[in-house]
Amino acid sequence: MTQKIDLRSDTVTLPTPQMREAMAHAELGDDVYGEDPTVNRLEEMAAAKTNKEAALFVASGTMANLVALLTHCGRGDEVIVGDKAHTFVNEVGGMAALGGIQPRTLPNQPDGTLALDDIRAAIRGDNVHWPRTRLITLENTHNNCYGSPLAPAYIWSVYDLANSRGVKVHTDGARIFNAAVALGVPMAELTRHTDTISFCLSKGLSAPVGSLLCGSRNFIAEARRNRKMVGGGMRQAGVLAAAGIVALETMINRLADDHANARYLAESIADIPGIDLDPARVRTNIVFFDLQTDAPNAAEIEQRLARAGVLISASGERRMRAVTHYGIARADVDATIDAIKSAVSRHD
Ligand SMILES: Cc1ncc(COP(=O)(O)O)c(C=O)c1O
Repeated sequence: MTQKIDLRSDTVTLPTPQMREAMAHAELGDDVYGEDPTVNRLEEMAAAKTNKEAALFVASGTMANLVALLTHCGRGDEVIVGDKAHTFVNEVGGMAALGGIQPRTLPNQPDGTLALDDIRAAIRGDNVHWPRTRLITLENTHNNCYGSPLAPAYIWSVYDLANSRGVKVHTDGARIFNAAVALGVPMAELTRHTDTISFCLSKGLSAPVGSLLCGSRNFIAEARRNRKMVGGGMRQAGVLAAAGIVALETMINRLADDHANARYLAESIADIPGIDLDPARVRTNIVFFDLQTDAPNAAEIEQRLARAGVLISASGERRMRAVTHYGIARADVDATIDAIKSAVSRHD
């Protein structure tokens, strides 16, 4: 079987040979007792990378955000969140179902930000009728907003506003390393002005499983209880953490290649008749493009591309999303460009 070019997500990445090697030889213990040396090492590395006091290894990005929200908020509390945010759109309503937390959605701007005036107006005062605004969540990079990175100055302005109103900030940093690489800033610049941050090992960094939640020592101690509550105590999790350590040691700088491939893909397909796409919006590894009304719809293009061995997801009636990642070389992008040209132009 010929290998498919799979651009559905950076979550399809497979572990590197070095990761498999590290997993096979990882030193292990029971992590619920705090005795897995490999997990402990990964958590220390994550805390150091994000410049926070402590970190917690969890099963997924969804669990990292859920545990963060459960730790920040009580039942009936309100979270300010973007209407395109992963935590709001794609996490099965976990904050409401499991935490009794009420999302207060604000429109995400095209660059993934929330307008400061909107946030200011949404933070509630003290009134016996109202829920308490506990938390603002940001997403960096913003998946549904073209993988846009949020810049340090913006993050600071949200944090400053939140502080002045006694509200905390959590960042869903599933792809925070993509943001750091794209903006050319040290990670600490992106994590300094958020109380807590989650990031994923299993997306562009190519580890098979796992995310980290980072914050103050007290916060992480409480989060550890909440991780246990949602069934996330993982025992000899060092077999997974070992791959995560390799991910942090070897897979960050190469994200620049994914960004260059995404930009190249965007620039090469932007002029195809029937496609709407502004390549300048592609700043990291996510390319959205829209199909004009005289072109086939996204479901049809998805099928045509799949028949040509290229997997790209329809993410709306006329919208498609392609994500570049480890394992996708420039030649694969060239083949993808040809496949898209032919899929959009054929009228069958
Ligand atoms: C921005 C963002 N946050 C969180 C997640 C959730 O990660 P996981 O699939 O590991 O639960 C994703 C997954 O794609 C994501 O894109």
